[in-house]
Amino acid sequence: MTRLTTYGYCLLTVLLFSAAQAAPQKCLLCHGKKDLTKQEETGRTVSLYVDTAQLQMTVHADRDCADCHIDIVEIPHKQVRKVNCRRCHYTGNPVGAPEGELYDQYEHSVHGIEVARGNPRAPVCQDCHGSHDIIRHDLAASKMYKQNIPQTCGRCHIEVYADYRESVHGMALARGIMDSPSCASCHGEHNIQRPEEPGSKVSAANVTGTCSDCHGPMGVASKYGIKTDRTVTFEESFHGVAQMMESRMVANCASCHGYHDVRSHDDPKSSVYPDNIPATCGKPGCHPEATVSFASGKIHIDPKSKESGILYYISRFFMILTASTLAGLFVFIVLDLFRRARKARAKR
Ligand code: HEC
Ligand code: HEC
Ligand code: HEC
Ligand code: HEC
Ligand code: HEC
Ligand code: HEC
Ligand code: HEC
Ligand code: HEC
Repeated sequence: MTRLTTYGYCLLTVLLFSAAQAAPQKCLLCHGKKDLTKQEETGRTVSLYVDTAQLQMTVHADRDCADCHIDIVEIPHKQVRKVNCRRCHYTGNPVGAPEGELYDQYEHSVHGIEVARGNPRAPVCQDCHGSHDIIRHDLAASKMYKQNIPQTCGRCHIEVYADYRESVHGMALARGIMDSPSCASCHGEHNIQRPEEPGSKVSAANVTGTCSDCHGPMGVASKYGIKTDRTVTFEESFHGVAQMMESRMVANCASCHGYHDVRSHDDPKSSVYPDNIPATCGKPGCHPEATVSFASGKIHIDPKSKESGILYYISRFFMILTASTLAGLFVFIVLDLFRRARKARAKR
């Protein structure tokens, strides 16, 4: 009798298993039930209900359950492996998934490297993109919609997200200023690198270029009444020139303005608000002697503009001095040549 029951169970299992295999939507016999749940080890109850109507709205509407959950071949299934999106997502795939350098980039990114190293907290594809809810990134409900990216990354980078959310950039993006940077505008997408990596978009050497993409003379920041001569004046300043000479110790945009908590200079919490300048410029290794008066002068100085006061005149003076010295030298050379020619003719 017990043997019969065992056979019965085996048969039922095989039947259900082949049903699940042959027609993957059979998964919904169980997972289509709203009350299907499981208890995690922590005691938390999680829903195992799968909303097929939602799946039908996604980019994977044509995919069967088993296309992604490839390892589920028996019932019950307890130890289920994480879905491997790379099964379809690779260059040269036959199913029509997007191609390009993104896969290669991801593998060489800080996240890909950490995953390969076995870091369980580092993101694989679904940690950023989602699972049963992946829709085109230009739709407002996508986890990858520009306004939602900070929250998607912020799930893991909690402190960064907290700073960013209150910054001039974070608040502007939340207000719908789509030109304002999300995490990905400064860090990249699949090619995110640690700031110490020379190739990182936010390394000490590259961060000025990253800010200047928007704050340079051709950048989008001009649309918002922000002066875009900042990068030019920066390059002409001592800091900019020293940076071009490959000195990594010298200030870049982020050393003065911060990066996640960038604020307008008239916000008292800004690192470049006059009262905070001594602390900002006086950072260890910079200008320990900095005082409030250190900052009373403008930092982004354009010596070509009369607004710059004495600097304008000093700059003018040196321009005139240089020009007249050059002119004098030129006259001297011409006279000298003339004299030599006359001497030579006199000899003959
Ligand atoms: C006989 C009912 C039944 C069928 C049919 C079934 N499942 Fe399940 N599934 C369950 C139950 C019950 C669990 C919870 C197991 C546990 O307690 O860990 C589960 C767990 C899972 C999990 C893991 C969830 C998690 O977070 O641990 C996945 C993924 C899953 N099923 C997918 C599928 C797929 C895909 C199919 C079809 C190929 C399928 N299931 C068919 C009952 C079923
Ligand atoms: C595009 C790939 C894809 C398809 C198609 C897909 N899933 Fe999933 N599913 C995932 C991912 C990703 C997760 C999250 C867990 C993980 O990372 O493995 C998940 C999680 C689950 C879970 C765990 C509970 C939850 O919602 O997190 C169940 C149950 C499940 N899937 C069942 C199904 C069923 C049933 C179908 C078919 C109707 C299906 N899946 C189709 C990718 C997919
Ligand atoms: C750290 C988060 C993150 C991870 C991990 C990640 N992506 Fe992305 N992915 C993004 C961002 C951000 C975009 C850009 C969306 C946009 O253009 O605004 C993107 C874009 C895409 C696109 C282009 C289509 C689209 O929505 O624009 C595909 C395809 C894609 N990712 C697939 C993958 C695959 C496959 C993996 C795993 C190998 C992966 N991604 C891992 C963040 C991530
Ligand atoms: C069975 C093959 C298959 C698997 C597995 C798969 N995908 Fe896809 N994916 C596709 C195909 C095909 C498309 C293109 C759909 C289209 O263009 O209509 C696509 C498109 C996408 C897109 C592009 C969306 C856009 O904006 O154009 C993203 C992002 C994506 N998949 C992420 C994932 C993630 C994350 C996983 C793992 C959870 C995954 N895919 C697993 C086949 C797959
Ligand atoms: C699932 C969690 C998760 C998500 C989502 C995630 N990250 Fe990460 N990220 C990590 C982990 C883990 C590390 C490695 C931390 C370490 O070892 O220092 C990391 C590292 C980084 C680093 C390098 C940090 C350092 O100290 O060198 C940057 C930059 C970064 N992530 C940016 C992003 C951005 C931007 C996004 C969104 C597009 C994102 N991350 C999404 C988990 C995540
Ligand atoms: C305006 C550009 C910008 C934006 C927007 C931005 N970052 Fe950063 N981020 C930087 C710079 C620059 C650094 C490197 C600072 C350094 O030299 O250590 C950095 C460093 C990091 C680090 C390394 C740890 C740390 O705090 O130094 C992580 C993680 C990170 N960013 C994640 C994010 C996430 C997540 C978001 C979105 C919520 C985001 N960033 C938005 C510019 C930006
Ligand atoms: C993707 C484009 C983009 C990038 C990259 C970017 N910004 Fe911005 N930034 C903007 C926009 C747009 C605004 C205006 C937001 C608003 O309307 O309040 C802004 C505002 C500012 C402001 C405040 C100006 C004011 O008068 O209120 C400062 C300061 C600033 N950014 C500095 C930086 C620094 C430093 C970096 C690099 C670490 C950077 N930005 C990177 C687009 C960008
Ligand atoms: C040595 C420190 C320092 C560096 C380096 C620096 N800034 Fe500034 N920045 C300031 C100070 C101080 C102010 C406010 C006073 C002023 O306008 O001169 C300011 C003002 C600004 C403003 C106007 C902000 C507002 O609130 O109106 C923008 C935009 C800006 N900087 C962008 C940049 C960019 C982009 C870079 C890099 C190319 C950069 N800054 C490099 C110190 C610096």
